[in-house]
Amino acid sequence: MNSGEAVLVTHSLPAGADSTLAAEWEVWPGAGAMPRSELMARAGEIDGLLCMLVDDIDAEFLTTAPRLRVISQMAVGVDNIDLAAATAAGIPVGHTPGVLTETTADTAFALLAAACRRLPEGQRALQEGVVGEWDPGFLLGGDLFDTTLGIVGLGRIGQAVARRGMGFGMRILYSGPRPKAVAPRLEADHVSFDTLMATADHVLITAPLTSATRHLVDAAALARMRDGATLVNVARGGLVDQDALVREAATGRIRAALDVTEPEPLDPGHPLLAMPNVLVVPHLGSASVRTRRAMADMAVANLRAGLAGERLAACANPDIHSRFAD
Ligand code: GLV
Ligand code: GLV
Repeated sequence: MNSGEAVLVTHSLPAGADSTLAAEWEVWPGAGAMPRSELMARAGEIDGLLCMLVDDIDAEFLTTAPRLRVISQMAVGVDNIDLAAATAAGIPVGHTPGVLTETTADTAFALLAAACRRLPEGQRALQEGVVGEWDPGFLLGGDLFDTTLGIVGLGRIGQAVARRGMGFGMRILYSGPRPKAVAPRLEADHVSFDTLMATADHVLITAPLTSATRHLVDAAALARMRDGATLVNVARGGLVDQDALVREAATGRIRAALDVTEPEPLDPGHPLLAMPNVLVVPHLGSASVRTRRAMADMAVANLRAGLAGERLAACANPDIHSRFAD
């Protein structure tokens, strides 16, 4: 890599990963997302961009970034990036699949277990001082063992969730555009989305957000869920029609555990946060010390490869590589 190439890193990285950055790269020092105006102000000068899922990398930004040769996102999901526009501009988009799979599956299972067994309600009851003597009928929830887990999107994370489900003695269903070759090893049966919603005791969403999956879980899908079923979303908030979820959850008929919402974070006064049967955490799927460090290292490696005109180890618009002569 030539030194002197201008690189913008839109967020400070987890401790330790910073040491892998070149000294001359600019790291946005603010807390939280880099303001749009600041991002746009630098667009014309940068050769490389290391960004986060909160940055809106749209066609307008790309049009004002004629020097940009690589976008490297520290996330597996890239729905905040206009991939078609990046491809048209000849810019490879790196992302971080694989390294966050197991941690995100752990988070999904933690959310499922917590919501199903009503753990946050137990803690809140203690905090509010409303717990009496031990009571055999207090805060009874659902089971994990010997239930049916429905996985929407059997990608890497979905498969890691399925393996956990097998360990918990669950039957596994999955939906998605087509059956996956890996499914028999996971004893997972391919069913339609409607069948999955109507049959599963627990519905776990791990599909990417695209124009085809936006509001996949709509009012009709929620109405199909079994009484007492749990909806867990560790993908993107946009996969669920959140207003419809508010209405369905308000009946108390289903439970939900959400790592992702629209917007993020939810306003403290949002109705979902007041519902005892809904658990919401602020997008913590991959938030382990080890995994965030691995994601940062992978994002830096993708960025360096792009600056050097090499293939990215993980590219979200792989068609772009046809422009690299092999
Ligand atoms: C997190 O949500 C990611 O896409 O990595
Ligand atoms: C994550 O890598 C997924 O594809 O589920």
